[in-house]
Amino acid sequence: MKRIYMDHAATTPVDKRVLEAMKPFFSDKFGNASSLHTEGQEAREALEKSREKLAYVIGADPKEIIFTSGGTESNNFALKGTAFANKNKGRHIITTKIEHDCVLNSARWLEKQGFDVTYLPVDSYGMVNTNELERAIRDDTILISIMHANNEIGTIEPIEDIAKIAKEHNIYLHTDAVQTVGKIKIDVKKLGVDMLSMSSHKIYGPKGVGALFIRGGTKIGPLLHGGGHERNMRSGTENVVGIVGMAEAAKIANREMQTVMPRITKFRDKLIRELLNIPNSYLSGHPEKRLPINASFYFKFIEGESLILKLDDRGIAASTGSACSSKSLKPSHVLLAIGLKPEEAHGSLRLTLGKENTEEDVSYTIKAVSESVEELRKMSPFKKTFEKVE
Ligand SMILES: Cc1ncc(COP(=O)(O)O)c(C=O)c1O
Repeated sequence: MKRIYMDHAATTPVDKRVLEAMKPFFSDKFGNASSLHTEGQEAREALEKSREKLAYVIGADPKEIIFTSGGTESNNFALKGTAFANKNKGRHIITTKIEHDCVLNSARWLEKQGFDVTYLPVDSYGMVNTNELERAIRDDTILISIMHANNEIGTIEPIEDIAKIAKEHNIYLHTDAVQTVGKIKIDVKKLGVDMLSMSSHKIYGPKGVGALFIRGGTKIGPLLHGGGHERNMRSGTENVVGIVGMAEAAKIANREMQTVMPRITKFRDKLIRELLNIPNSYLSGHPEKRLPINASFYFKFIEGESLILKLDDRGIAASTGSACSSKSLKPSHVLLAIGLKPEEAHGSLRLTLGKENTEEDVSYTIKAVSESVEELRKMSPFKKTFEKVE
């Protein structure tokens, strides 16, 4: 059976061109970028070229890019690195209730270390209210961390407006752009952020590599101490092969964005239009200010996990927001934050498109989701309630 992959917010396959760019660095070009000999210098050159490529994609200076092991590390680094380096100025941090767990759990850990964290609520579209942000700012606020776009519901936050507020109050602003890099045009100067997290495996690059943009002059300390790599900001022998892959992936995504994203947006809109024809189905996230790849729903009277398994049987890889991770049965903190009841959050479905998806994939998915929801509802213990509502 043909497989249709519609879970690109979770991860993406490595683009063949990215793999080709990486291949020499697995074997022939194996040098340690810190070594002085030819092999080492070859690795160093590849590393610095990659830094330039990635910096160009987001409008940064290469010196402002620190490579990490992924989005999780970049977010930990931004929060903890800024918090400890600025603790004499203040101990208050502002974030939101819908951040990725790596931000939320870093913030919770910082609370245990004596920092104070405000978790801003969001509206029913998952949007942060900038007035509420202004009200949360205190004299001792040192950092605001708000994601660029949400990984579950796709809502894009008003980062430029938030940046103006942060600047007025002289507070550092970090954004988790793991879901937006390569999908919407990013210019760190225009966005006005001081720090921005990226991850390679969401943009057809390899897993286990990412980067943090740190605007020149930002006061931040390292998370990892050691041999002083990455200008003393992130020790550990550089993952040259992964970094080469990430930079190539970012370059391709940036170059092809103009052709790929309009096509994907059309598919997304078709999924949304057609799947909302299912009785008692609802869109999650903002209807317009949303990621081009993201079509997220919740269906009343069904269990998201059962729907995912049914779709998997039909060859479709999708995900549900009803579990923060597939190991947990807790409803998603994001869906609860936008006001869904736990039973509604349990009926969620996230379809995230990628460049290899076709019009046929979209039509097949619409049919498969519609039929699967109907089948599941026939078996549902809520059937009686459902019939009444209809
Ligand atoms: C918004 C967001 N931030 C951070 C991460 C973590 O990135 P990584 O998997 O590279 O650690 C993810 C991945 O799911 C994400 O979607």
